[in-house]
Amino acid sequence: MCAPRDAVTRRLALGTLAGLGALAACGDPEPAPGIDAPPAIDAAIDAAIDAPIDAPPNLPPQVGAIAGPTTLLAGASGTFAVVATDAEGDPLTYAWSASGAPTPGTWAAPAAASSAWFSGAIAATGPAQLQVSVSDGVNPPVVQSLAVTVAVPRFTDLQPIFGMVCTSCHGNAGGLRLDPANAYVELVGVATSNTACNTLVRVAPGAPDQSSLIRKMTGTTCGDRMPRADPTYFDDNPGLVVRVRSWILAGAAND
Ligand code: HEC
Repeated sequence: MCAPRDAVTRRLALGTLAGLGALAACGDPEPAPGIDAPPAIDAAIDAAIDAPIDAPPNLPPQVGAIAGPTTLLAGASGTFAVVATDAEGDPLTYAWSASGAPTPGTWAAPAAASSAWFSGAIAATGPAQLQVSVSDGVNPPVVQSLAVTVAVPRFTDLQPIFGMVCTSCHGNAGGLRLDPANAYVELVGVATSNTACNTLVRVAPGAPDQSSLIRKMTGTTCGDRMPRADPTYFDDNPGLVVRVRSWILAGAAND
């Protein structure tokens, strides 16, 4: 006589040999030597074993405020930098950009954590919005921005350029004196003497491209490029051309 099914199970649970014998004798379809868990518990254990272990979410980079000057002369370089860290140590990429009036300007290292920037030429003092977008390659980029006031240069801001690279010859070369006492009156509205350009004035207020001063600094459409001893000087120092252009664009004031 077989024992009732649940009585066998109870004895199995107690691990009795008698229970095992009873199971074997009755041809139980699951003659396992261990204890059979009810199917619902089996399934729950399988599910728990198979379930993926939840990874913690990847965090976006932490990006500090942009450090750098908040006012700049047109064409003058400022250095802008952010400090960024990433919890998972993901490699970070940086992208600097500028928007606003005097854009886009020029970035020296637009994909670095720190970059110098100078504005384009402007006709009036105004704000530029500088931005850096920092990405860990996983999350949406984190953006920081900084408003920078870009100021029109005064005529006195041009004097250091003349003093550095022009006055060695322009005590009177080409009939042009560029020392502080004479430069303004010999530049603004004065006809150019170079025959390649003698329909132009040296400085036409508001019109840098019609000013032989700019043409002599940037190319050869008015004869030899200046400074004569170092004709690529302004290719190497493009911010200085922006400085002079901006002063002319804004009206070439004697200030
Ligand atoms: C090595 C000497 C030398 C240096 C340095 C030099 N110049 Fe000249 N510059 C000349 C001579 C010579 C002329 C006249 C011949 C000509 O027009 O190219 C001249 C002509 C000019 C003229 C045209 C004047 C006119 O009425 O035709 C301008 C404008 C000018 N220079 C600007 C500059 C500026 C700005 C600098 C500095 C960034 C500079 N030069 C540096 C020698 C020099």
